[in-house]
Amino acid sequence: MIVSTAGVFFFFFFFTLIPVSLSSAAPSFTVDYKNNSFLKDGEYFRYISGSIHYSRIPRFYWKDRLLKMYMAGLDAVQTYIPWSFHESVPGVFDFSGDRDLEYFLQLCHEIGLLVILRPGPYICAEWDLGGLPAWLLKKKDIVLRTADPDYLAAVDKWMGKLLPMMKRHLYQNGGAIITVQVENEYGSYFACDFDYLRHLVKLFRSHLGDDVVLFSTDGAGLGYLKCGALQGVYATVDFGPGGNVTKAFEAQRYAEPHGPLVNSEYYTGWLDHWGEPHSIVSTDAVVKTLEEILDLGANVNMYMFIGGTTFGYWNGANTPFAPQTTSYDFDAPLTEAGDLTQKYFAIRKVIKKYKKIPGGVLPPSTPKFAYGKVQMKKLKTLSESLDILSISGPVKTLYPLSFIDLNQQFGFVLYQTSLPVDCLKPTPLSSPLNGVHDRAYVSVGGVAVGILERNKCISINITGRAGSRLDVLVESMGRINYGKNLNDFKGLVTNLTLGADVLTNWTVFSLGIDEVVREGLLWDTPSQQDSSPTHILSPPTSLSLPTFYGGTLKIPDQIPDLPQDTYIQFPGWSKGQLWINGVNLGRYWPSRGPQVTLFVPASVLSTEAPNNITLLELETCPCTRGECVVQFTHTPILNFTVTHIKPYNRGQTFITP
Ligand SMILES: *[C@@H]1O[C@H](CO)[C@@H](O)[C@H](O)[C@H]1NC(C)=O
Ligand SMILES: *[C@@H]1O[C@H](CO)[C@@H](O)[C@H](O)[C@H]1NC(C)=O
Ligand SMILES: *[C@@H]1O[C@H](CO)[C@@H](O)[C@H](O)[C@H]1NC(C)=O
Ligand SMILES: *[C@@H]1O[C@H](CO)[C@@H](O)[C@H](O)[C@H]1NC(C)=O
Ligand SMILES: *[C@@H]1O[C@H](CO)[C@@H](O)[C@H](O)[C@H]1NC(C)=O
Ligand SMILES: *[C@@H]1O[C@H](CO)[C@@H](O)[C@H](O)[C@H]1NC(C)=O
Ligand SMILES: *[C@@H]1O[C@H](CO)[C@@H](O)[C@H](O)[C@H]1NC(C)=O
Repeated sequence: MIVSTAGVFFFFFFFTLIPVSLSSAAPSFTVDYKNNSFLKDGEYFRYISGSIHYSRIPRFYWKDRLLKMYMAGLDAVQTYIPWSFHESVPGVFDFSGDRDLEYFLQLCHEIGLLVILRPGPYICAEWDLGGLPAWLLKKKDIVLRTADPDYLAAVDKWMGKLLPMMKRHLYQNGGAIITVQVENEYGSYFACDFDYLRHLVKLFRSHLGDDVVLFSTDGAGLGYLKCGALQGVYATVDFGPGGNVTKAFEAQRYAEPHGPLVNSEYYTGWLDHWGEPHSIVSTDAVVKTLEEILDLGANVNMYMFIGGTTFGYWNGANTPFAPQTTSYDFDAPLTEAGDLTQKYFAIRKVIKKYKKIPGGVLPPSTPKFAYGKVQMKKLKTLSESLDILSISGPVKTLYPLSFIDLNQQFGFVLYQTSLPVDCLKPTPLSSPLNGVHDRAYVSVGGVAVGILERNKCISINITGRAGSRLDVLVESMGRINYGKNLNDFKGLVTNLTLGADVLTNWTVFSLGIDEVVREGLLWDTPSQQDSSPTHILSPPTSLSLPTFYGGTLKIPDQIPDLPQDTYIQFPGWSKGQLWINGVNLGRYWPSRGPQVTLFVPASVLSTEAPNNITLLELETCPCTRGECVVQFTHTPILNFTVTHIKPYNRGQTFITP
C-alpha cells in the first residue's frame, strides 16, 4: 500500500551494487505490442486513472483528494502542468507552495498512485492561453504550437528546467510517473506542424531518456489522429459517455494497430461558461460507458475525477469568446470542494468489478461552516486608488496599448482620456473592430455610464462636455485556450471612436491590484466623499464606479474544529473579484451565472486574526439600496443562469443526457 521512499532508495542502492540482478528487478513500464497492453515490471498492466490538477487545489488539500482517489480504486492520477503557473516572468521559475509539483508527485507516490504526466507545453485545460505564458505574445505574430523559432526557444528553456526535475520521478527511476504526454490534442490544431512535434519528442527524449513511454491524446476520429499521432509517441484517444466505445477505439487502432487501448480523457462531466447553463452529466451514462471501456480491457483516465477551482485570473475562454467560470467543479465524482458524491460511489462500484480496491476508512467529505453575514464597507473607488495601484505611473500614448505592451499579464488596465468635443446629445462610444478585450467599465466625469463587452456590446451612448474625463477600465476575462485564435491580446486592442472620431491621447495605467490588496494598502485611508460629478448631462445609470469594499470575518472561538471550508455568496452584488487575506479566490458574477457562490477553502482562513475580505465590485453594489453584506453559507450554487448566452459547443464527442 503505502510505499516508503526510504525503501525505494534502499532498493536502488542495493541493486546498483549487484548489477546482475538489475534486469529482473529494476522497475520498468513499457508497451506490450504483442498482447495489446502495458507491461509494468514485465507484467500485464491496465490502469484506471483520474484527472486532478494540482494547480486547481490548495496544497493543503492535495493529500485528502489523492487519498479519496486512491480509495476509489484508481491505479493512477493524471495531471497537467500549466507552464504559465510556473514561469509567469521569463526565466523566473516558481515551484513553491501551491506550485510545488515535486511535492505533489511525492504525495502520489507515497499514497500508492501512479502518475500520468501531461507537461504540454500547451495543455488547453480551460487555463489562460492553454497554459502557455502570456509573455510569449510579446512577439505579436508568434505562431504558437509550431516550429516558430521564438516559440521553440522558449519551450526549450522551459522544458530544460522542468523535465530534468521530472526525471527522478519516472517509474523506472523509482518514482510514480509511468507515461508522459507530448503536447495536447494537437490533431485539433490548424497548424499540423510535424517539425514541431518531432522537435518536442527529441527534446523530451533528451531530458527523460529513451525508455519513458511518451504518448499523445486526440479526439477519437481519424481527422484528429492525422495531425496528432506521430511515430515514437504512443497514440491514445479521448471520448465521453454515451457513444459507441468499439467505434471510438477503432479510431485509435488506425494510428496504433497494436498496443493497449487507452481513453486518456473520459468525460465524467463538463465545463461551464459564464452565461450558459451549468453542465450536468448523469451518473448512469458515466458508469454505463465506463463498464464498456473496462470490459474491453482498455485503459481509462476519467477527466475530471476532481475538477477543483480556477482561482485568481487563471481561467481561459473558448471561441466565439466565452470565458469559463471560476468553479471547475465539472460535475466530477469529487466536487469542487473534494466531497464524495453519488457519482463517486457508483464509479467505485464499477471499478470493484474489475479489480480489488483498497479496504479501510474512506476520508469523509470535509465539513462546511456557514459563518453568516459579514458587513462590507466602501474602501475606495479604483480611480481614487491610482497612486498606489499604478506603481510605475501612467504611460502617455496617442493610441491605446495592450496588456502585453505594458508587460501586464492579468487583471485590469485603466485607459483615461478626455472628451475632445461637447457631446450634448447621446453620442456613440464604440469599438468598431470589437477590440475591447474583454469588458470595459466606462465612466464620464466620474459617473459610471455603461459597459462595453467583447462580441456582445461594441457601442454605448454617452453624453458630456468637452474636457470631461473619460475612464475606460478594461478587464481581461481569460485568454482563449482552444482553437486557432490563441494570440488573444487583452486591453483596448483597437481604437475606440466617439461619434466619427478616433479617440487619442490616452493616459494608460497598468494596475498591480493583487499586490496592493495583499499588502492591505487599500484599508489605510478612508474614501473621500464621492466628488460631485461634473459636466454630466444625463442622469446616472444603475451602475456604480468600480470600487473596493472591505469587511472582516472573525472565526467564532467557541466552536471546535474551525476554520472549516465555506462558500461565499454575494447578495445584490453584480460582478467582480474576491480576495480573502490577500488570496485571489477568483471572479464572481452572480448577475450572469450560472455560478453564484465561490468556494473558500479553510486553508485561506485564520483563527488568529480577523480575516480580511476585499471585493472589487465593477458594476453595482447593494450598499446604497439595502444590506451591504457578503454571506458565508454551507452550500454551493453553481447552476443559476441569469442571463442566458447562446451555448457554445466545442465539438467534442459528448452528450448531455
Ligand atoms: C495478455 O492480456 C490479457 C488481458 O487482455 C491478460 O489477462 C494476460 O495476463 C496477458 N498476458 C500476458 C502474458 O501478459
Ligand atoms: C458500434 O460500432 C461497431 C464498430 O463500428 C459496430 O460494429 C457496432 O454495430 C456498433 N454498435 C452499435 C450499438 O451501434
Ligand atoms: C444611441 O442614440 C441614438 C440616438 O441618438 C440611438 O438611435 C441609438 O439606438 C443609441 N444607441 C445605443 C447603443 O443605445
Ligand atoms: C488607431 O488608429 C490609428 C489611426 O487610424 C492607427 O494608425 C492605429 O494603428 C490604430 N491603433 C490601433 C491599436 O488600432
Ligand atoms: C493630443 O496631444 C497632442 C500633443 O499634445 C496635441 O497636439 C493634440 O491636439 C491632442 N489631440 C487631442 C484630440 O486632444
Ligand atoms: C487583516 O489585516 C489586518 C490589518 O492589515 C492584519 O493585522 C491582520 O493580520 C489581517 N488578517 C489576516 C488573517 O491576515
Ligand atoms: C440547481 O441544483 C440544485 C441541487 O441539485 C437543484 O435543487 C436546483 O433545482 C437546481 N436549480 C436550477 C435553477 O437548475
